[in-house]
Amino acid sequence: MSELDPELLKRATQWIREADKVVVFTGAGVSAESGIPTFRQAQSGLWAKYDPMRLATVDGFLRDPRLVWQWYAYRRRLVREKEPNPGHAAIFELESWAGELTVITQNVDGLHHRAGSARVIELHGNITRVKCFEGGHVYPDWDDEDAGGGELPPLCEHCGQMLRPDVVWFGEQLPEGALVESFSLAGSCGVMLVVGTSGKVQPAASLPVAAREAGARVIEINPEPSEITPTAHFLLKGASGEVLPQIVRQLRK
Ligand code: OAD
Repeated sequence: MSELDPELLKRATQWIREADKVVVFTGAGVSAESGIPTFRQAQSGLWAKYDPMRLATVDGFLRDPRLVWQWYAYRRRLVREKEPNPGHAAIFELESWAGELTVITQNVDGLHHRAGSARVIELHGNITRVKCFEGGHVYPDWDDEDAGGGELPPLCEHCGQMLRPDVVWFGEQLPEGALVESFSLAGSCGVMLVVGTSGKVQPAASLPVAAREAGARVIEINPEPSEITPTAHFLLKGASGEVLPQIVRQLRK
């Protein structure tokens, strides 16, 4: 395990203690140690030959609804087999030291909920929830086994339209309420921890900028620099499943 700069670790814990409101903004990196590939890591196995950027779009779905549905069913199975990792658990524990802590995540794997985090804003939706194509009817906690072996994608039992994953695809709008609440939190938090994101996708990647401009202390946690790094006060270089538990241990002292 890479030991962190004790000075930076001390500063991070002091800033967290002093903050009334803390935001933890996460990306795929926080789930990497749970065995869920990050978005830009090469796809593995039979999906290696498909480009996620083509599958995770409305056009990609309309071009081959069955293929895209099967890709998400594969990812739902993967997510359900995996567990939250020490990074998710440490974020949950941070709730005991931070005045008010909210997780804003770009991830669709639901692992923050499963780790116990009380306030989670899912900017890009959740892969275990499906909805009909026009979005009116939502099916939380979809179980592909229950759906039986019928035609794929299944059809909505209320309106007969094709079902699709309730996640934000490229080119789609983010859930309005989640976005407004996230920028309001970014503009009013004392500390924002930015964990495991490359900072390549807007508007999510503007949240740390909004936080910094509003006077928050921004601390990044990532094994390597990202597009967020210039906005952060400093980067705690390491895996989130190692760095976050070190912060919690330091807070316990
Ligand atoms: P990326 O795959 O773009 O970036 C993952 C980040 O995690 C990289 O900066 C890695 O260095 C870092 N990382 C890898 N392992 C880590 C670890 N163990 N601990 C901490 N960090 C680690 O994933 P995102 O930034 O989340 O959007 O991608 C953002 C969005 O792009 C996704 O939500 C998705 C995609 O388009 C939609 O689906 C709408």
